Amino acid sequence: MSFYFKNLRPDNDSNSENHDFTQAVINGLSKERKRLPSWLIFDDRGSEIFEEIVGLKDYHPAVCEFEILRTHKQKIADIISGEALQVIDLGSGDARKTRVLLDHFVKSKLQIHYIPIDISAGAVKSLVSSLESKFTNTSLTVTGIASEYFQGLEAVPREQFKRNFVFFLGSTIGNQDYPAAGKFLRELWNSLNDGDYVMIGFDLMKNPKLLYRAYNDPEGVFQKFNLHLLDRINRELGADFVKSNYVQEGHYNEQSHAVESHVYSTQEQTVRLPALDKEFHFKAWEGVQTEHSYKYTMQEVEAVAHNNGFEIVEHLFDSNQFFVDSIWKVKK
Ligand SMILES: C[S@@+](CC[C@H](N)C(=O)[O-])C[C@H]1O[C@@H](n2cnc3c(N)ncnc32)[C@H](O)[C@@H]1O
Repeated sequence: MSFYFKNLRPDNDSNSENHDFTQAVINGLSKERKRLPSWLIFDDRGSEIFEEIVGLKDYHPAVCEFEILRTHKQKIADIISGEALQVIDLGSGDARKTRVLLDHFVKSKLQIHYIPIDISAGAVKSLVSSLESKFTNTSLTVTGIASEYFQGLEAVPREQFKRNFVFFLGSTIGNQDYPAAGKFLRELWNSLNDGDYVMIGFDLMKNPKLLYRAYNDPEGVFQKFNLHLLDRINRELGADFVKSNYVQEGHYNEQSHAVESHVYSTQEQTVRLPALDKEFHFKAWEGVQTEHSYKYTMQEVEAVAHNNGFEIVEHLFDSNQFFVDSIWKVKK
């Protein structure tokens, strides 16, 4: 059994990716209502802090998804049993939830090639080594790929007789607005074969009070996660954000159908990025939107599947129906 780690992440010198980060920060901070896209938070440290979020008791997307995977692991195994399979875990992080399934697949002696893909090289590297310590001499083979989603998918070994099963868990789809999520799913469909499966986690619309509680934990982990972006901008772009001058708060916006986290400037201040010859002014209590998590109804889940070429196989819910892991088949 083999355990490999491939790092496709570019070095930290000037490259197109740094260019994308720089442009996204400058565009976002130049807007009249300052707004930065969620993907900027995820470097190695951002991904580590997200793992702390997954352990919060009121962060229902993770609590519910753990329940779904524990309850329905046999149902998922039944879908794939009898076939050699590649399980591709997009945005795996530390794969805390996927491991519930891996444990079960190995106990059931299923032949699985597990391929976690994540932009955080640190997360994938430590995942591969922890899987190696646990699963040596079992039916599990692992190839971890540190890369952006689609670059990683292109690097997945094409094994002719193996079906692919893509996991996209954690409501990560909700970090994109609806048109971007549709575009993402169409690109995913294009990169898969007829008959391949996907399982996608959607956080379902529910009482906004529960949503508020999930994104404003008293321990302050969400604040740490969002303020990490200021650290990243300081480190990568030489800015001079003083983190203690900002606080985070997240709330549901009924117009956008997303929980939107904002970082608020507690005082009037100016942030400088001398290397780029830019500065950005903040009024006291002005906010920057740093994260959004779009919520879905079941009609929207079904529509986004059908509109992008997938056939629905099964919806797996938690006992409160707060979250769904929806399993689809690629139809070509
Ligand atoms: C919301 S977390 C979900 C983690 C895990 N799947 C779970 O369910 O707990 C999103 C993960 O996707 C990764 N990620 C974000 N943008 C990415 C991209 N463009 N390509 C690859 N991975 C990405 C992050 O590093 C992070 O680990």
